[in-house]
Amino acid sequence: TSLQPYHSFRLATQATELIFLESPTDCSVVQDSDFLMLGEGSNTIFTTDFMRPIVINRIRSVVIEHSSSSFDITVGAGLNWHAFVESLMQQQIYGLENLALIPGTVGAAPVQNIGAYGREVGELINQVVAWDRSSGQLVKLSKAECEFGYRDSIFKRQPERWMITHVQFSLPIKWRPVVHYGELTSLGDNCTAEQVFNKVISIRQSKLPDPAVIPNAGSFFKNPVVDRHQFTEIKKSFPDVIAYQLSDNKFKLAAGWLIDRLGLKGYSIGAAAVHDKQALVLVNRGNATGENVIQLAQYIRQQVASSFGVKLEAEVRLMDSHGLIDLDVCE
Ligand code: EPU
Repeated sequence: TSLQPYHSFRLATQATELIFLESPTDCSVVQDSDFLMLGEGSNTIFTTDFMRPIVINRIRSVVIEHSSSSFDITVGAGLNWHAFVESLMQQQIYGLENLALIPGTVGAAPVQNIGAYGREVGELINQVVAWDRSSGQLVKLSKAECEFGYRDSIFKRQPERWMITHVQFSLPIKWRPVVHYGELTSLGDNCTAEQVFNKVISIRQSKLPDPAVIPNAGSFFKNPVVDRHQFTEIKKSFPDVIAYQLSDNKFKLAAGWLIDRLGLKGYSIGAAAVHDKQALVLVNRGNATGENVIQLAQYIRQQVASSFGVKLEAEVRLMDSHGLIDLDVCE
């Protein structure tokens, strides 16, 4: 089967087996297989044919309950993320508006703890229901047990173990806007959730390529974190470097800025290219190969390392025939 429709970077690679999961009881069927879990493939790039079975979640139920203080919403992992966020907005249930238009499924959201415009999804998750392959049963993990970090969680660190079936969100009924990030500040604290939702959509549409039009997988690299000493050194040579201070000694650099500063917007190898409006996003201009993508990624990493002394790590799941590619190894 062609993998092209199953990952948003749309490389022309093949899968040996696709298994569709329609209900939680199907989980036991794949208990003994060496599968890879996939949502809509918007953060996974299959650079070669994939030799393990791929499980695609199609559980799409939505159950909304509420207490005096919050809406508690239990959602099937296979539902499209933006469709879910939009349906909550229509029901005047707010909290996820900063995360509008992020490609992918509800089940993929906790895996890499999706985040945008000042919000991370882990902040609003109450628990995650997942099949635990080590015990062969469905379990509920509390927010703390999910161990959320920047684009990180227990599900990302133990991909062979967990298969997420449902995510439960807890959204406070008393809503407050989160508008401290970049262009959202202009909305002010008295704005409505609809205004935040619409603004996020318009920012994303102006910078980020629509995967349905230009195949891509969002940010290709994570924003790197450096210590104060390293930050000061970079700042000496590049006074306009963009960074967010995380703690006394930790600074998160805007990787898009670093790549942009090297003049790499639009740079390409074969049909794999740096997007011309957001340098952190790589795109497939048509018939890119896996090799093009890896070579382009390595070229960017080398340039960033030699100019700024900073190492970029992949944010996307870059796959070879059996699993994750380690860019440090295939240099
Ligand atoms: N910048 C440039 N040139 C570029 C790209 C960015 O100068 O080519 C500058 C921007 O002007 C801005 C700063 O770098 O001052 C940060 O850029 P932006 O706000 O676009 O965010 P980002 O750090 O590049 C992160 C997430 C995105 C998320 C945005 C908004 C990561 C790896 N990426 O990108 O998430 O949408 O913030 O919150 O953390 C994704 O994960 O796939 C993704 C798109």
